Amino acid sequence: MKLPSNFYKPLAIGAPAPYRELPVSLERMIHFFPGHNEKVRSRLGEMIPQVDVLLGNLEDAIPADAKDAARQGVIEVGKAHDFGKTGFWVRINPLNSPWVLDDITQLVAEIGDKLDVIMLPKVEGPWDIHYLDQLLAQLEAKHGLKKPLLIHAILETAQGVKNVEEIACASPRMHGMSLGPADLAASRKMKTTRVGGGHPFYRVLEDPKDDGSPRIAAQQDLWHYTFAKMVDACVANDIRPFYGPFGDIQDQEACEQQFRNAFLMGCVGAWSLHPNQVAIAKRVFSPDPDEVLFAKKILNAMPDGTGVAMIDGKMQDDATWKQAKVIVDLAKRVAEKDPDLAKAYGFWPRSGKRRERFGPERHELIESAGVDLAGPFRIDEQRAPDGDEVELTRLQTLDELVSARRPGRLARDGSNQLTREADAAGRHRRPAR
Ligand code: GLV
Ligand code: MG
Repeated sequence: MKLPSNFYKPLAIGAPAPYRELPVSLERMIHFFPGHNEKVRSRLGEMIPQVDVLLGNLEDAIPADAKDAARQGVIEVGKAHDFGKTGFWVRINPLNSPWVLDDITQLVAEIGDKLDVIMLPKVEGPWDIHYLDQLLAQLEAKHGLKKPLLIHAILETAQGVKNVEEIACASPRMHGMSLGPADLAASRKMKTTRVGGGHPFYRVLEDPKDDGSPRIAAQQDLWHYTFAKMVDACVANDIRPFYGPFGDIQDQEACEQQFRNAFLMGCVGAWSLHPNQVAIAKRVFSPDPDEVLFAKKILNAMPDGTGVAMIDGKMQDDATWKQAKVIVDLAKRVAEKDPDLAKAYGFWPRSGKRRERFGPERHELIESAGVDLAGPFRIDEQRAPDGDEVELTRLQTLDELVSARRPGRLARDGSNQLTREADAAGRHRRPAR
């Protein structure tokens, strides 16, 4: 048995030390592109800022005679783009395939410094992770990589499901896991021909009625057991669970429902196989603004997270405080990327970011608004409980703020005068009443 004290040591001399905590990132969707398709590759420049994670696919759905072209295509993409905050991942071929060694060695050599995560399909047990872990350490050392590559396992065989807990803690490189319902169905010999989602014949039927009227039957979730098991294994080891693919691209409603179930159950994201699924994942895996505002009320009512509070007639305690914290933390990550949601959540970017986003004139205006802006343009600004975000509890649009500063615009209620005085003093004050 490997000693616990060695768990976080690099597996090769000169390889970067493994992370002790996963880097914080927003991963609502992992958007797949086929590495060998030139037309798709040519549009990725537009796609990158719109998705949280872009993944080059080398495995299933890539024909055997296009495996080399797909790998070269992914390398080309890695070299051509700056990914900014968007994650760049690759799904390699399975460990028992003839292509995987070239996948790993060439990708790490050519674009190892651009890649964040390697997705490994058909993981059966911790031994698969150990193999890749060691090989990556050797290659990282050889190519002088500065940050460790992470591993994301696809849970898509019956044996993998059986070993899911050992897989989740097999290495500090583990980033997370995705449920792969298509291969799992094949591995289990399920009698289906689908990529994820429900099945019309998997139902629970109501008891017979005395009057012989039709019995209600409701479709059940084929994936619930595996899914819950995977989420527990991941979260218990501080790694991230994802729903995988939803293959019926036309059925956006069912895709949304599947994603929503995953979100509620604890998943951080899902795969998108088509641009229309990007929008669905964004919608589903970003918390609902009303939920965020309510969660913020809970955090504000119980600043140290203990005790009990009644909010809108509902009892809150330590456990709901923790749930609220999960939602607010996620909302903050989403807000960093999405200014509209940032507003809806009542978050405002920090000073440096405001300057970048709004330009110097508007930035100066927002800064000068400080605690108060006169009259109808008053803003209550306060620090959120952890102090790293500014919260505006009553938000005016920037255009309203800008017009408030223009002389003569607000003469009727007198606040213009005050605004001008405040301008002269270099700050704004609440009018005396
Ligand atoms: C994904 O790879 C799946 O098999 O569902
Ligand atoms: Mg699969």
